[in-house]
Amino acid sequence: MTLLDKIVALSKRRGFIFPGSEIYGGLGGTWDYGPLGVELKNNIKREFWKSMVYERSDVVGVDAAILMNPKVWEASGHVEAFADPLVECKICHERFRADQPEEIQNHESIHKGKKTEWTEPRKFNLLVEAKLGVVEDAKQKVYLRGEITQGVHVNFKNVLDSSRVQIPFGIAQIGKAFRNEITPGNFTFRSREFEQMELQFYVKPEKVESQKWYEYWKAERMKWYLSLGMDKKKLRFRQHEEGERAHYAKDAWDIEYDSPFGWKEFEGIHNRGDWDLSQHQKHSGVDMQYTDQESGHKFLPYIIETSGGVDRAALFFLINAYFEDKDRVVLRLHKKLAPFKVAVFPLLANKPELVKKARSIHSDLRTQFSELIAWDDRGNIGKRYFAQDEIGTPYCVTCDFQTLDDDTVTIRGRDTTKQERVKVKNLAQVLGDKLSD
Ligand code: GAP
Repeated sequence: MTLLDKIVALSKRRGFIFPGSEIYGGLGGTWDYGPLGVELKNNIKREFWKSMVYERSDVVGVDAAILMNPKVWEASGHVEAFADPLVECKICHERFRADQPEEIQNHESIHKGKKTEWTEPRKFNLLVEAKLGVVEDAKQKVYLRGEITQGVHVNFKNVLDSSRVQIPFGIAQIGKAFRNEITPGNFTFRSREFEQMELQFYVKPEKVESQKWYEYWKAERMKWYLSLGMDKKKLRFRQHEEGERAHYAKDAWDIEYDSPFGWKEFEGIHNRGDWDLSQHQKHSGVDMQYTDQESGHKFLPYIIETSGGVDRAALFFLINAYFEDKDRVVLRLHKKLAPFKVAVFPLLANKPELVKKARSIHSDLRTQFSELIAWDDRGNIGKRYFAQDEIGTPYCVTCDFQTLDDDTVTIRGRDTTKQERVKVKNLAQVLGDKLSD
């Protein structure tokens, strides 16, 4: 079993990620997050929002609509240029991305002995279309957004007029994006529906100034992933080559992870220049310029963008955390990302006085913490520890017979497997300190 197979199996077994619409045979490139997966994703998004919006005074947030006037996508260049090169196998007519040589090679090996011929590459637009309206013939064609970015840029003026931001400043957003990917695959890595967490940072349209902010945001984003426990050796920056860059980018660097299927992008940092604002100004006829408060000078700012995938981050955090340790599997997720922070057990499930005490500790902790606290009274204590290790719960609290005598419980650490005994009255404080260190 490969590491990716193990992650897929664990995700299904323990409720992180399920195939989308599974009981109907699935839908290619869609995934559903289960009770633990939704917590992991929410934790990633909360940390992103905290670091981008709550801890800074130069970034504000928005949440724009997924459905937008189709003119947005004409202006942004996505109708014309948001396309991947596609080739078709002349034997079985399956289609692949021409820029993914490993997938093409894998496919050729299926047609053993036959020489596989391919059509010439042609461009395939990735925007997903939908129809809006109630009258069949008058339905309007719209696109599900291919990137969450445009919802920010079309609101540039609204944000300027309604808040006190001044350049340099940024607008953060988290939300779903959709792409008609030719070959979805590698679990959630390439999906057709996924979530992005982005910052659009508006700066003066000067080379030196925009480069300074570009380098600043590259460093900040790398620091953020490291602060959440990503292994430094498994991360790198890679600059896009000429011809590889998206139509809007003047410069593009990816943060890549050394995954079981090779070095892969999970965040892009782009210098978009004034592409978006100038295109929207041209197509909408609305003046999108910023007026400098001191000089009165008007200009279209440059945009430095950081664009991460929430699903790819979740997948790489899971892979990064997966360890097989003697007789147990342990997910060493960062405490801030772990779905459950603490689990509470009675030592034995058939001793009512232990169960009652453990239940009351569990319910107290639930009111003292705004995070998820697990309860488990199945199987033996060793199995319960292992079951929590496998989903990354940092601490387990056990009520045993000594608890009934002296009102103490044990706290067992996921990474050390060591236990310590603390007074129940100090439990919330001790756990709070441990979780925030
Ligand atoms: N606004 C810029 C933008 O969308 P991108 O490099 O096309 O840039 C940014 O996408 C991030 O979105 C990627 O680094 C990746 O994490 C995520 N992403 C893109 N396509 C994806 C897909 N098909 N499935 C899952 N995540 C995807």
